[in-house]
Amino acid sequence: MKNLMVTGGAGFIGANFVHHMLGKYDGYRVVVFDKLTYAGNLDNLLPVKDDPRYAFIQGDICDAEAVDAAIEAHDIDTIVNFAAETHVDRSILDPDAFVQTSVYGTYVLLEAAKKHGLERYHQISTDEVYGDIPEGYSSVESDALRPRSPYAASKASADLMVQAYHITYGLPITITRGSNNIGPYQYPEKVVPLFTTNAMDDKPLPLYGDGRQKREYQYVGDHCSAIDLVLHKGVIGDVYNIGTGVEVENIDMVKILLDTVDKPHDLIRHVTDRAGHDRRYSLNIGKILALGWEPDHTPEEAIAKSVAWYRDNEWWWRKVRNEDFESYYQVQYGKRLAS
Ligand code: NAD
Ligand code: TYD
Repeated sequence: MKNLMVTGGAGFIGANFVHHMLGKYDGYRVVVFDKLTYAGNLDNLLPVKDDPRYAFIQGDICDAEAVDAAIEAHDIDTIVNFAAETHVDRSILDPDAFVQTSVYGTYVLLEAAKKHGLERYHQISTDEVYGDIPEGYSSVESDALRPRSPYAASKASADLMVQAYHITYGLPITITRGSNNIGPYQYPEKVVPLFTTNAMDDKPLPLYGDGRQKREYQYVGDHCSAIDLVLHKGVIGDVYNIGTGVEVENIDMVKILLDTVDKPHDLIRHVTDRAGHDRRYSLNIGKILALGWEPDHTPEEAIAKSVAWYRDNEWWWRKVRNEDFESYYQVQYGKRLAS
């Protein structure tokens, strides 16, 4: 493995992964292949812009010719696929692009990996494919997939297709299923950057329902080091959960967030819940721990460090919270916050 194609590498986790790989290894070349949807942002890749080991191609993973051309031009031996539509609330408003990118786009990448005989195809998946998890249980990799939102269903479909290509064609694949990532460069539709940037402008924080939903908030750098480990030491054909093993209720996450930016707790507004909101995700992470990984941050440290990044990097998020973002915000929160 030396020439990586990182699809979706201009997004939040993909860009952090590019920084992780180029920072840690000298011998890799990284090609980011990204459509630059609303969530893709070349500012996320500014620190590597002039690195001779890095190249950027604007392209859609649904476009087989463009994918082929990129693989050939850069002698790609490994694809790490981060490309997806990723926001549950947007998938409720309009699922079309979710199905296009995660279902058809993943299929296009798998065909390309097969055709070019790549050494590895790695799929970035999510804990949301397991669905809502009852108290007292944590999902293991062999569990049935029970996705409940259009986003989660599009990701579960992709996982199944990736596994089918391994079983049917012997394609050398691995899959990682991460929990809620937080950290630098996350588009502010997701809860931590949304609430931090709202708080900094003294705007209300729209907390869905009672705010007692549970998530495993994970620092993005920890997720990237686990993906790196699976690429190097993971068993071909296997799936690895990557979480923290520690659940945090949203309401507690928000209190840490507000304390970090020194804003009052009365900015919290309980608003109408998300349709079909999964109450709890919980991953059994025994398999990735046994492979030799451990996270560097507790969830509390991850939340405080992520919030501090937005506090200190207004240059980044003020550009992103543009007119398009504000129209989305109005559709998603206008009525909720008015009532
Ligand atoms: P993101 O929305 O920040 O970035 C997605 C990137 O994919 C963007 O740069 C976008 O331009 C690109 N993209 C979208 N459609 C494309 C297409 N058709 N062709 C090429 N590029 C396309 O997402 P993220 O939060 O960085 O998530 C990355 C991956 O990790 C996704 O697969 C997501 O399902 C998964 N994941 C995310 C989380 C999380 O908490 N954010 C947790 C677990 C897994
Ligand atoms: P989010 O960041 O959208 O990630 P996911 O839905 O993929 O877990 O949301 C994280 C949690 O925060 C989830 O339980 C929904 C909740 N949430 C709110 O309460 N208000 C909001 O405005 C958003 C975006 C999320």
